[in-house]
Amino acid sequence: MASNLHLPLLFLLSMAYSSLGAVPKKPMDVPFGRNYVPTWAFDHIKYNNGGAQVDLVLDKYTGTGFQSKGSYLFGHFSMSMKLVGGDSAGVVTAFYLSSQNSEHDEIDFEFLGNRTGQPPILQTNVFTGGKGDREQRIYLWFDPSKDYHTYSVLWNLYMIVFFVDDVPIRVFKNSKDLGVKFPFDQPMKIYSSLWNADDWATRGGLEKTDWSKAPFVASYKGFHVDGCESSVQAKFCATQGKRWWDQKEFQDLDGLQYRRLNWVRKKYTIYNYCTDRKRYPTLPPECKRDRDI
Ligand SMILES: *[C@@H]1O[C@H](CO)[C@@H](O)[C@H](O)[C@H]1NC(C)=O
Repeated sequence: MASNLHLPLLFLLSMAYSSLGAVPKKPMDVPFGRNYVPTWAFDHIKYNNGGAQVDLVLDKYTGTGFQSKGSYLFGHFSMSMKLVGGDSAGVVTAFYLSSQNSEHDEIDFEFLGNRTGQPPILQTNVFTGGKGDREQRIYLWFDPSKDYHTYSVLWNLYMIVFFVDDVPIRVFKNSKDLGVKFPFDQPMKIYSSLWNADDWATRGGLEKTDWSKAPFVASYKGFHVDGCESSVQAKFCATQGKRWWDQKEFQDLDGLQYRRLNWVRKKYTIYNYCTDRKRYPTLPPECKRDRDI
């Protein structure tokens, strides 16, 4: 009897505990040039509204890309994107963070286009100390070519969270204590690019890009960057522990965020390396951490 009485209390406590998490600060829209510069094929980037909105263009000669001016150790990075519509099979649009050295860290969003009316795929990956092979693939619950949606990364010492709008679609917790490297001492730049990848992106290269549908256009706005800016060689963030993303409520997802994450996992997952026992006979350690406990 006595133990029954404790149940509601425990339940309430766990609710309170799991509601510590919080939604990242709302991104602020700034012009492209505030945070970014073109990287290659400059004439394939079109600037509208004084750079408030930018189009990347892919044709059969070249794709294009841009990168952040600064390098960052931790923070919140987001982009509003409207992806290539219509027949976009073979076309890949990427938005990612990466350090520049050989044993690099990387946090990736990659959108793989598809034939008209077929769903594109969002692939995410995390590289730590040069090791990747942590692909997850999902379908989205909307058509990403119809409207702008916000794709963002929250990166602190505790976790890396991938958000689509306000929905966390993936979390990679710091599992250093389990022997898994976690990005913490290599500043990353933010990159985006649009290119042709019909050698691998479409069902292993089966579908080819239809160049009669070119040019392919991906549209961007937002360009929000809120990070600890560091020199490329820095080993730590000068304001470590003091920024909003370091605080308690951003050290884990909250109950609602876990429910949303589970909804994505249940309804939209195509592939998750964490559940691929052929490839990983033993569960990669970080996968034990990526859920509510
Ligand atoms: C394209 O659509 C087909 C059919 O629905 C699907 O099997 C495939 O995963 C989709 N994505 C890519 C990149 O091929």
